[in-house]
Amino acid sequence: HHISLIGVPLDYGQSRRGVDMGPSAIRYAGALKRLESIGHTVTDEGDIQVSAVEKTEQDTNLKNLDEVVTANTELAGKVADVIKQGKFPLVLGGDHSIAIGTLSGLSTTYKNLGVIWYDAHADMNTAETSPSGNIHGMPLAVAMGLGHERLVNILQGGQKVKPENVVIIGARSVDPGERQLIKEKKIKVFTMHEIDRDGMTAVMNEAIEYLRNRNVDGVHLSLDLDGLDPLYTPGVGTPVAGGISYRESHLAMEMLEDSGMITSAEFVEVNPILDEKNKTADVAVGLMGSLFGEKLI
Ligand code: ARG
Ligand code: MN
Ligand code: MN
Ligand code: MN
Repeated sequence: HHISLIGVPLDYGQSRRGVDMGPSAIRYAGALKRLESIGHTVTDEGDIQVSAVEKTEQDTNLKNLDEVVTANTELAGKVADVIKQGKFPLVLGGDHSIAIGTLSGLSTTYKNLGVIWYDAHADMNTAETSPSGNIHGMPLAVAMGLGHERLVNILQGGQKVKPENVVIIGARSVDPGERQLIKEKKIKVFTMHEIDRDGMTAVMNEAIEYLRNRNVDGVHLSLDLDGLDPLYTPGVGTPVAGGISYRESHLAMEMLEDSGMITSAEFVEVNPILDEKNKTADVAVGLMGSLFGEKLI
């Protein structure tokens, strides 16, 4: 591939500062060289501009809505651009609210996009159901056209992803409103229960088969580092115990690479302030290696 690295130093989608340094931490962990050594051409597009000033007055319970909308609008434009140039967008977060911009940008090209949401959370809250007001808990709902109109209408207005094209993997912390939406929209979810019971091989085979049967024209991988167990990725703002292992995650990435279906990806929620010696960014870069075809032999 010709891969475009796009950094999004945004931490306004949640309440813990520091995840804005995620793109730097991932670059420092050697993302560019790692991908080049596999044989890919890599262009670092630099970072999306994020305003440093936080407005305090607003008429919504969504935290920092203006800042999140502005950064995601710019990101959407950048992602749209990169695909039109035939390059593979690899977006570095930043908190998970940046998926709003990524998926808006992707929707300019892909009309039947599949999405793999690798995460401890469903990120399917709306303004009405959110227990926290944190926009990083909402991007998957927004992508399906549900949520605050300013978020839903970034770049391409309205729904960007069909609920039947979404697969969630690794869920173990789901809010009541999200659970209801998952049922209502019949979202395909592989919780930790399915991963424990059937194994990651079976889960990934089923996920890949499911998306193939949907006749998707591309598949976006949205990987939240808190999908893994905090044992392996401690540098995240909302860790949840009992997560996906390091080995299972590499296997999942390798199976996605073998499927040949992934057309864009993002790695989010790396927070170097909460991390241990950049361990979480190191894991992120290792997973990128497997996703992009690194082979031992
Ligand atoms: N469900 C919780 C909320 O909406 C936590 C979301 C965590 N999301 C994430 N991308 N880490 O506030
Ligand atoms: Mn999460
Ligand atoms: Mn998430
Ligand atoms: Mn590939």
